[in-house]
Amino acid sequence: MRALVMNKAVLRIQSLNNIFQAIPGVASLLFFFLFETTHGGRTLYPLPSKQDSTSKQPLQTSRPYNIAHRGSNGEIPEETAAAYMKAIEEGADFIETDILATKDGSLICFHDVKLDDTTDIANHTEFSDRKRTYEVQGVNITGYFVVDFTLDEIKSLRVKQRCPYRDQQYNGKFSIITFEEFIAIALDANRIVGIYPEIKNPVLINQHVKWPNGKKFEDKFVELLKKYGYKGEYMSEDWLKQPVFIQSFAPTSLIYISNMTDSPKLFLIADVSMPTQDTNQSYWEITSDSYLEYIRNYVIGIGPWKDTIVPTQNNYLTTPSDLVDRAHAHNLQVHPYTFRNENIYLHFDFHQDPYAEYEYWIKKIGVDGLFTDFTGSLHKYQVWAAAAATDENNAYGLLHKIALMISSYEK
Ligand SMILES: *[C@@H]1O[C@H](CO)[C@@H](O)[C@H](O)[C@H]1NC(C)=O
Ligand SMILES: *[C@@H]1O[C@H](CO)[C@@H](O)[C@H](O)[C@H]1NC(C)=O
Ligand SMILES: *[C@@H]1O[C@H](CO)[C@@H](O)[C@H](O)[C@H]1NC(C)=O
Ligand SMILES: *[C@@H]1O[C@H](CO)[C@@H](O)[C@H](O)[C@H]1NC(C)=O
Repeated sequence: MRALVMNKAVLRIQSLNNIFQAIPGVASLLFFFLFETTHGGRTLYPLPSKQDSTSKQPLQTSRPYNIAHRGSNGEIPEETAAAYMKAIEEGADFIETDILATKDGSLICFHDVKLDDTTDIANHTEFSDRKRTYEVQGVNITGYFVVDFTLDEIKSLRVKQRCPYRDQQYNGKFSIITFEEFIAIALDANRIVGIYPEIKNPVLINQHVKWPNGKKFEDKFVELLKKYGYKGEYMSEDWLKQPVFIQSFAPTSLIYISNMTDSPKLFLIADVSMPTQDTNQSYWEITSDSYLEYIRNYVIGIGPWKDTIVPTQNNYLTTPSDLVDRAHAHNLQVHPYTFRNENIYLHFDFHQDPYAEYEYWIKKIGVDGLFTDFTGSLHKYQVWAAAAATDENNAYGLLHKIALMISSYEK
């Protein structure tokens, strides 16, 4: 028995020798290694007690991505550490965030260019002279702008829930986090969790925030990703270790960074009435076949508002557009936004059932990722739908086998 095993090992080494003959030294190393692993007549597996404790459950890549939009913000105030940790606990594949910059050039996670709607800025009388009016995407807006506050000042504020119909108990409990703190949350997770940061309002940020050596917002954004080891093309070994999708509504930002990082990028597409913030192109122009053909050189997917993919009328769905089919024809993924459980967002077709909405988008429209405010719901839907599909396959497979057995007796 021992001799037989040895012979097998030697045979394996001989064929490996052929492979490695060009690399002297490698084969002899392999010989030693293989002898060890076949010693005793069976392959030696790593002992569970000796497993590398740093190895993490990998990113799932077999079904559409669960993208935790601003964290689990259906439950906890958006873009806070608590919202992101909750999303990870609930099964997010990616945690999503909006990156803006402070007056002193720090990158932070915050959605609006103004602090007014989701912080307690109104109660900080020390900042009452900071109110400004700026033109943002062609509209004059007045309020307390992120770009007029230093990071220390931003950190003195507390975040509150945006939506009145959501849980208010966390108001005033959490602070705004930096991009680095956000990255740390993803990297500290006990499984591999991707990040999905947006280069937010780059036109406004570059107008108001200046960095040394003429660096731009996009430069700082990519620098930070690289500093923490985010690199590699979609599905590469590096990417799977630290998955990232970079997103932006501004095509020029995505094209500008294309020479700086090979991390996958997604082009966000707003409502049909909104021109792009940097190039002033219409929805129809940027969703045309010729534009998709162009932008696919820089991005691996698009992120459209879901009601532009399937327009609605009187809160019912109408005929789906061909955008998903055309994007797929250009080998572009489609990650629509934003899925929300509340009745006010669910079209009547889904009879107030968010699972029915997920089923429609995943099974019928065939999207590749979904931005959701309720990561837990999407996760549960996907786990249960996968289990149901397996049961069906098993039952079908069993019936098929029985049918074959019966027919072979009949012969
Ligand atoms: C601001 O202060 C008022 C009372 O002065 C209080 O009712 C309110 O909850 C505070 N708002 C925030 C966002 O903290
Ligand atoms: C915004 O306000 C400035 C100053 O009042 C004005 O010059 C400009 O035309 C306004 N822009 C828009 C889009 O209304
Ligand atoms: C990327 O770099 C190449 C070579 O330096 C240059 O020709 C090209 O214009 C750059 N592209 C962008 C989008 O900056
Ligand atoms: C953007 O495009 C629209 C439509 O072509 C045009 O009316 C508008 O003046 C443009 N805006 C800017 C800022 O160029």
